[in-house]
Amino acid sequence: MNREKQRIVIVGGGSTYTAGIVTMLLENMDLFPIESIKLYDNNEERQRKIAEACAIIVKELHPEVAFSYTTDPKTAFTNVDFAMAQIRVGLYAMREKDEKIPLKYGVIGQETCGPGGIAYGLRTIGPLIEIIDFMEKFSPNAWLLNYSNPAAIVAEACRVLRPNSRVINICDMPVCLEEIFGRILGINSRKKFDVRYYGLNHFGWWTSIKDKDGKDLMPELKKYCLEHGYEEYTPQGQHKESSWLETMRAAKELIKIEPETLPNTYLKYYLMGDETVEHSDHNYTRANEIMDRREKDTFAECERIIAAGSAKDTSFASSEHAQFIVELACALAFNTQERFLLIVKNNGAIENFDPDAMVEIPCIVGKDGVEPLSIGKIPTFQKGLMEQQVASEKLAVEAWIDNSYQKLWQSFAMNKTVPSIGVAKLILDEMIEANQKYWPILK
Ligand code: NAD
Ligand code: G6P
Ligand code: MN
Repeated sequence: MNREKQRIVIVGGGSTYTAGIVTMLLENMDLFPIESIKLYDNNEERQRKIAEACAIIVKELHPEVAFSYTTDPKTAFTNVDFAMAQIRVGLYAMREKDEKIPLKYGVIGQETCGPGGIAYGLRTIGPLIEIIDFMEKFSPNAWLLNYSNPAAIVAEACRVLRPNSRVINICDMPVCLEEIFGRILGINSRKKFDVRYYGLNHFGWWTSIKDKDGKDLMPELKKYCLEHGYEEYTPQGQHKESSWLETMRAAKELIKIEPETLPNTYLKYYLMGDETVEHSDHNYTRANEIMDRREKDTFAECERIIAAGSAKDTSFASSEHAQFIVELACALAFNTQERFLLIVKNNGAIENFDPDAMVEIPCIVGKDGVEPLSIGKIPTFQKGLMEQQVASEKLAVEAWIDNSYQKLWQSFAMNKTVPSIGVAKLILDEMIEANQKYWPILK
């Protein structure tokens, strides 16, 4: 295979995922050869620790790859083929507020769903659009592969504000769940499946899973799901902490209301809100778990690598979360025509759904970009839920553009996680206080 070497910038270089992504890139060099990797972040100190450890990893695995890091947009975005974005605007301290403020009012507190997701969206739209503009200014032919959350709202903002930009929004949850399906069935790669899936980001359903001989695997998966949800008893996979296992188990309930399909786990927050709130620790949420574990462990491991001057025996490993990103980049760079679930403009793919909604559906990806597959008509249950959620996401983006308090209130009130306009307003007013540094001033 004679493939041209690619130049990458990882945006959000200080992310807890960066070392895993760099490792994954280096382990896939035969598939996706690399000339240079740059890290870019707007937080110099946070990025430096990650970057110094990554420099050692690169030197040990592939010293021929040019590695650098910067906080200067021009240096970062000049001479790149791909920007891979994983920013978290407001860091974990703000995720904690996104989770805890709604919980005070008995509402789901979640990174990407409900009022927390909307608040995170309003922080992220401006910086993400700025990143697109940097890329277009300094490397007009590059692609932005965005997996920063909240991906649904970010994707809608891209559709409205930068409709012609080379941006692809993608989520790892379907990938991770398909890997789980594989382990449940004893099939060692999700690449051996042909799947049909539709919905919104963090809000969708599998309608068909077949093997390459056309054998229908749904009956066995549904049966398993009814008994265990998606909990599987192997050490593999990204979502293994107890809070995630609880979410995996919830699929067992979600499938009952719509037994024709397999649900995305995130539907729990919309369809099982009351019991999820009841079982949440309002004083110690997922953000606390991560700050106490993943974030601490990541920086401690970087410090260990830097002090040792070597990454031998490192705990950083290339993760499932990362693998699909290189496959997507490959499809664009080398025209593989592979199929991915992407967040794209509906444009008729779901026949009986808003053509201007951003939906998550299978797409073929090649050198010329993304070609969504046709889904046809969807049933009333899913359609109704999706319409409400899309309206909430659209109102959030409109609120950001128009600096509109009223629209943001409507966005909160429209969300299925929120019981009334009164509760929506209480949460909104507290969110405004908490997000002063990040949100536009609402009129
Ligand atoms: P993190 O806080 O560890 O890292 C995010 C980094 O982004 C930080 O170093 C921060 O300084 C940087 N950043 C913030 N604003 C920036 C800006 N304007 N320009 C450049 N850098 C900026 O967060 P994390 O847990 O590693 O997650 C990173 C992102 O990836 C989050 O949005 C998370 O939700 C997302 N994520 C997405 C998926 C998916 O499938 N879509 C999966 C996992 C994580
Ligand atoms: C899944 C989702 C991501 C989300 C992540 C959160 O992978 O697809 O969008 O960011 O979970 O995981 P965490 O470990 O940060 O709670
Ligand atoms: Mn996701």
